[in-house]
Amino acid sequence: MKRIGVLTSGGDAPGMNAAVRAVVRKAIYHGLEAYGIYQGYQGLITGNIQQMEAGSVGDIIHRGGTILRSARCPEFQSAEGQKKGLEQLEKYEIDGLVVIGGDGSYRGAKAITELGYPCVGVPGTIDNDIPGTEFTIGFDTALNTVIDAVDKIRDTASSHERNFIVEVMGRNAGDLALWAGLAGGAETIVIPEDPIDMESIKVRLLKGLERGKKHSIIIVAEGVMSGNEFAEKVKELTGIETRVSVLGHMQRGGSPTAVDRMLASRLGARAVELLLAGKGGRAVGIERNELVDYDIIEALSLPHKLDLDIYRLSKELSI
Ligand code: F6P
Repeated sequence: MKRIGVLTSGGDAPGMNAAVRAVVRKAIYHGLEAYGIYQGYQGLITGNIQQMEAGSVGDIIHRGGTILRSARCPEFQSAEGQKKGLEQLEKYEIDGLVVIGGDGSYRGAKAITELGYPCVGVPGTIDNDIPGTEFTIGFDTALNTVIDAVDKIRDTASSHERNFIVEVMGRNAGDLALWAGLAGGAETIVIPEDPIDMESIKVRLLKGLERGKKHSIIIVAEGVMSGNEFAEKVKELTGIETRVSVLGHMQRGGSPTAVDRMLASRLGARAVELLLAGKGGRAVGIERNELVDYDIIEALSLPHKLDLDIYRLSKELSI
């Protein structure tokens, strides 16, 4: 192994830069050459590839987004696109690849692995929906962003005695909504992992009103339905007026927290160690604060597990 490539793909996540830095510096530390592949799989197909030095990744550990830029690339889902990508890797004599990204990026990494090329997946997404790790890079920062927004919404909800619905990202996973709901003290959390029960939500809201509750915050994961749709259902069922706040892409930006910088640095470095040890086809992760790695093909076949203890606790504490 003489040359390692690194790319970031899919929705960007705070901490991706710290992961790129770790891959590049760890590779150079071990005497390898590091190559940055720009614009995710799109840049792999077109050969948007440049050698990176230790200095190329200076001053980025604290920056959100990704200096390698990112893209969603439908072309890489086809055998033709994958072939073009592998041809570029051969052309640049890159012997192993680190892919930093979420679900779709992992599927690309799996395809590369199935073609016999050494590739390691590093979980980077605010959604926290990657199997084989308890946490993904970017989740903690996005969580703090959401909590900050919820705290602010709570101020105005309390002043105006209003009910708010906050729509949170997460694609099909409820982690961000759940953790933000618990840490932000939301009265109700609605996530895709638990079938929506409008009747119990109605009872809960009406009981709250009876008890003299003047405001409330309901967090709805985007994987359930939009905040506006949910507001209409609440209005229909209870007559209660709500204001809706859709947090949107601000959840993906911002300087990564210390937790995300640490996670990204550790996982990025571990990915290089695996490639150096001749272990391609792996997905790295963290479990109980220990680094782990799984066969990427097997990992992708596992379901993502929501932490049910946290879900139960959120219900117990929001009575
Ligand atoms: O996967 C990250 C994510 O932000 C999801 O939470 C969200 O559903 C999606 O990406 C939005 O994608 P896009 O930026 O392509 O609209």
